[in-house]
Amino acid sequence: MKSLVLNPPERAIRYKLVIRAIAIIVCLAFWNIVDYNIHALEEASLQRIYEEDPPNYYYFDEPVQEMFIDEEITDTEELINLKYCGSSKCRFLFPVLLREQESRARIHMIRIMLMARKTNRVLVLPNVGGSRLGACKLFSFDYYYSIDTKKFPDFKFITQSQFLSWNQEMREINAKMPTAKAVYLDSSYKIKKEQIKSEKLNLEKYKIDNCMQPFYLDYEDKARTILIRKTFNDRDAIARFVIDGLRSVQSDVLLMNYSFPRFNYPNLQREMPPLNYANYLIEQAKNAASSIRPYVGIHWRMESAKAKNLVNCSVSLVEYIKRVKQEHKIKNVYIATDYPLDGGDNSHSDTFATLTENHHKAANILNNSLDFYTWMRLDSSPSAFAGSSKRWDHEDSGILGTLDKLMLVYADWFVSGPGGCARVQSSYTAQVVKERKRHVTTIGQSTDNLLNIKDIW
Ligand SMILES: *[C@@H]1O[C@H](CO)[C@@H](O)[C@H](O)[C@H]1NC(C)=O
Ligand SMILES: *[C@@H]1O[C@H](CO)[C@@H](O)[C@H](O)[C@H]1NC(C)=O
Ligand SMILES: *[C@@H]1O[C@H](CO)[C@@H](O)[C@H](O)[C@H]1NC(C)=O
Repeated sequence: MKSLVLNPPERAIRYKLVIRAIAIIVCLAFWNIVDYNIHALEEASLQRIYEEDPPNYYYFDEPVQEMFIDEEITDTEELINLKYCGSSKCRFLFPVLLREQESRARIHMIRIMLMARKTNRVLVLPNVGGSRLGACKLFSFDYYYSIDTKKFPDFKFITQSQFLSWNQEMREINAKMPTAKAVYLDSSYKIKKEQIKSEKLNLEKYKIDNCMQPFYLDYEDKARTILIRKTFNDRDAIARFVIDGLRSVQSDVLLMNYSFPRFNYPNLQREMPPLNYANYLIEQAKNAASSIRPYVGIHWRMESAKAKNLVNCSVSLVEYIKRVKQEHKIKNVYIATDYPLDGGDNSHSDTFATLTENHHKAANILNNSLDFYTWMRLDSSPSAFAGSSKRWDHEDSGILGTLDKLMLVYADWFVSGPGGCARVQSSYTAQVVKERKRHVTTIGQSTDNLLNIKDIW
């Protein structure tokens, strides 16, 4: 039997291993702090991007239009292409995966639209679901968004399912398989210079990971990675590098995995209107807002709050709300939060995983001290939506997050959490603030119920 008592050399080795493990743990902890701060910086810069935009943009009023598609029977490659792309040859940019959640992915989509225009490709609008955009999602793009093609005269779009139809028609006539290339857009702190890498594509895995099985495509055996620095500098040069890298792709279909946390075209971006939410969502939120007006809209993102503060945060929120209701004669309260206030686990954010005892306590204080609406409560009250036709999937976090966001945009008074209680810089809040500003400055009378832009409790 082996003795458990260590002899001196073994002890020395054990000692070294322990020291090494501690060093690694310290490094990891440090990296988390750095990473956290970097993230906060990115959010701050995003808010700047928002603030820089001209104020006079608009919600689009039309659904994604099927611009080119005319249901005539077509039986040659040229005619099929003409039908789907408006020209005899089709070249597509298909973003099969966007890394970030809806509020930020919505901004990234505008950049991807510019990439499609600059590379002369028709943009395939990816599916959506669970606050994400990508080929594997269940719903079509217009479940979340609307695009009025008239406002984008020099852009060409088709939806993912239209793209699939194009592809199936090609298969049916035994056309030569369209060529495809996988392209990864990624960024790194570690590199000193932008670079393009070429790596062998593990095709079977790629198809499974990106739900590409139904497509009739001939893949290039090398995938391309366009890697840029994570920096706020040299934005023009970086944009040119990326566009050149994309332009040199010859394949008919460019399949893009988009992981840039920040990327922008310093000049072009300004001319772009934002991607608007689908009209049926806007309409539902407007109806709901008028059914409970006047109301205070509260945004409380508990996700990155310090758990030990939450109970105090809740107590001060309750006091704040009582004061505001009285001072401004506001009757109702609407809460948008990532905590599942109505039970279940339909958290409005799919990155929010750990609910602690403090989260529950904080939520209970709200529950017991305030009368408030949440989307779920409104939606199950028959009077709020009498006569409405279009329903949505109650379980989809993207739909709930968007309806919440719009309810905050239309609120008479808007308040969100202070540092320590909530994540202060978020693109979600920045978008609410921006929309509220726009209402106040450009719409005037019809929505001048807005009593503030944003307050912090
Ligand atoms: C997309 O790219 C990111 C970053 O390069 C990578 O981590 C991820 O696994 C890729 N996803 C798929 C489905 O290929
Ligand atoms: C909560 O508030 C009380 C009273 O104001 C204070 O004594 C306590 O330290 C606060 N707790 C935290 C975690 O901030
Ligand atoms: C809040 O109250 C509602 C009913 O009024 C209940 O369904 C829900 O589970 C409560 N939430 C919490 C966090 O206690």
